[in-house]
Amino acid sequence: MDVLVIGGGGREHALVWKIKQSPLVEKIYCAPGNAGIATLAECVDISAEDTDGLLEFASKNNIGLTVVGPEQPLLAGIADKFIGRGLKIFGPTKLAANLEGSKSFCKNLLKQYAVPTANYRVFDSHVQAQEYVRNGKLPVVIKADGLASGKGVKICKSRDEAESALKEIMEDKVFGAAGNSVVVEEFLEGDELSVMAITDGKTIMVLEGAQDHKRAFNEDKGPNTGGMGAYSPVPFLNDKLYARIEKEILVPVVHAMKKERMPFKGLLYAGIMLCKPAPKVLEFNVRFGDPETQPVMMRMKSDIVPIMLATINGTLEEQEIAWDERGSVCVVMASGGYPDKYDKGFEITGLEEAGKMQDTVVFHAGTKTENGKCVTSGGRVLGVTTLGKDIKSARMSVYKAIGKINFEKAHYRTDIGSKAMTSRL
Ligand code: AMP
Ligand code: GLY
Repeated sequence: MDVLVIGGGGREHALVWKIKQSPLVEKIYCAPGNAGIATLAECVDISAEDTDGLLEFASKNNIGLTVVGPEQPLLAGIADKFIGRGLKIFGPTKLAANLEGSKSFCKNLLKQYAVPTANYRVFDSHVQAQEYVRNGKLPVVIKADGLASGKGVKICKSRDEAESALKEIMEDKVFGAAGNSVVVEEFLEGDELSVMAITDGKTIMVLEGAQDHKRAFNEDKGPNTGGMGAYSPVPFLNDKLYARIEKEILVPVVHAMKKERMPFKGLLYAGIMLCKPAPKVLEFNVRFGDPETQPVMMRMKSDIVPIMLATINGTLEEQEIAWDERGSVCVVMASGGYPDKYDKGFEITGLEEAGKMQDTVVFHAGTKTENGKCVTSGGRVLGVTTLGKDIKSARMSVYKAIGKINFEKAHYRTDIGSKAMTSRL
């Protein structure tokens, strides 16, 4: 069959790379893709947000499976549209996507079904929210209710910070309508991890865990980003903890969604804080994580295509999944200045040499081809990913590969995966 992957980041490159290995697949299209994806798939010039354009394309080209990378098209109802036309699409419906699209919907569901999460209040009145933070505990976490490209969460250590966060979100509307209401939440401390699971609404297949590195600089300093690197497996995510996360978080949420008549089908990503005594949910995403997908795809031994088709058909219980026991590390090379202002259009060299290294894949994110050259075109540019006998050796190879790649003002963290060796847990 022919497959369409929607999106153009590192996550989508990893998905295309994995899907390409399936004997079931003849041709892969990617909309819009990037310079790296173009070496594996035919890139189609349709934006990930043009859901009608994508629907027409899939229908005209007889696409047997569409896989959605980013959250925006899901929240715009792309799955509902494809299902309506009888097309197979991997990703939840608009209603189910609210688990990511509305933080208040997610928190209220978690509360109703007694799933552990930080205590919170929802406000749609700026005055009431202000009054609440004036009298509440510090630090406090303030979140725009809707989608804010990963920037809508403010951790405020002082009342002044909290008040200006509320003003920015609710009055200045820096995130537009996403800030019509806010979730004000208790600050949690602990190690964070990402657990992704594939579900057809009944059966849950938990993928190997990963740890993201959200801050821009080493030692978790600097502003939050989309993610500067990730590794898998997470050594402190042992069988017992896995079982708890499945039993106390994933199973109740999947059941809750079914009970609320919005069954969740697709990839459910739980952002988890390992608090004592219970792991708590920080957030849910309704799509693969970026960059977590890069190391997780490198470790997945099974063909992902039958698993995705079974998810759509509601037969996931018949599927099994096998993993490479080795460790994988992905380091993001970003444009200097990211996540704030940065320049683009710089030539990238050394890609071929790095990609030739054993068990190494250079996943592209913000890249494009210009006059025959590969140039930077986004904040996160590359996700250099390696496999090694353990995280330590994967880390050594990943930084060796990075040493071969150059572009002006490249920035990357040098401590990706170091927590795997030093965690207190
Ligand atoms: P979210 O988009 O909700 O995952 O938030 C982005 C990041 O903010 C998370 O990955 C955490 O590092 C941090 N964060 C969110 N909620 C909390 C919380 N209640 N306590 C501490 N940190 C938080
Ligand atoms: N890496 C975090 C995310 O995909 O949302």
